[in-house]
Amino acid sequence: MAAQNKVTTTTLLQMKQKGEPITALTAYDAVTAALLNEAGVDVLLVGDSVGNVKLGYKNTLPVGLDEMLHHTKAASRGNSRALLVADMPYLSYELDAKEAARNAGRLMKEGGAEAVKVEGGIEVAGAIKEIVRINVPVMGHLGLTPQSVHRLGGYKVQGRRPQEAEKIVTDAKILEGAGVFAIVLECVPSGLAAEISRKVGVPTIGIGAGPDCDGQILVIDDLLGINPEPAKFVKRYADLRGVSLKAAQQYVREVREKAFPGPEHSYSDGPGAKAHRST
Ligand code: KIV
Repeated sequence: MAAQNKVTTTTLLQMKQKGEPITALTAYDAVTAALLNEAGVDVLLVGDSVGNVKLGYKNTLPVGLDEMLHHTKAASRGNSRALLVADMPYLSYELDAKEAARNAGRLMKEGGAEAVKVEGGIEVAGAIKEIVRINVPVMGHLGLTPQSVHRLGGYKVQGRRPQEAEKIVTDAKILEGAGVFAIVLECVPSGLAAEISRKVGVPTIGIGAGPDCDGQILVIDDLLGINPEPAKFVKRYADLRGVSLKAAQQYVREVREKAFPGPEHSYSDGPGAKAHRST
């Protein structure tokens, strides 16, 4: 049964130990965060995917700490039960462990995050230790790490070659040793994700990593069918793009034909008429 109380890192560990699947989705604003809490999602990630999903960037690299703070603050205002994790954007943690800890602390103190996520293995272990040292829970992220898209040569499945797979397993153990409370595994073969999930004590959260991770995460716009070109691993649970497009097209038509607003959407003359605005 899904946990009813506030989700913490301890809850997630207990869920792994009991074999209860962890549900996670991205959320970038208060309205979506509130909706996903109502749906019972365990973990909300304010992903730096906000860059390509919402802000019109080509990838996640241009996203800055100020943008992550802005979206984390918004999501935290709509959050209640879920564990709220904020992505640390590119160049906010890789160069200097102290700077990494300061930036992670800002996402908690100013943004209202309850944990942060960083991408990479052994190369970011020092930063993770420093962040954990100031009491910020850290989620790791291995496999296809979108901030490394140019080094990786595109958004490709990682860990198909034995040497690559071995490095991901080793990195997962290093991250666990550095103190992460969970690890996202993105775009790795299902067998490799299953092996890592067995070999580490902390929960694994898969995205394009098969059914044997301890939990699953998707980008909310992919799940809702807003993104027109989702990856193979995405299941679209709705066609919000189609519904939204049709609604906007109908509005344009009705305004042009003077079919909207009708009398039911208009106010009569005289005092006492109540206006209700959602904005
Ligand atoms: O930024 C993001 O949305 C992510 C998920 C894909 C795990 O990192």
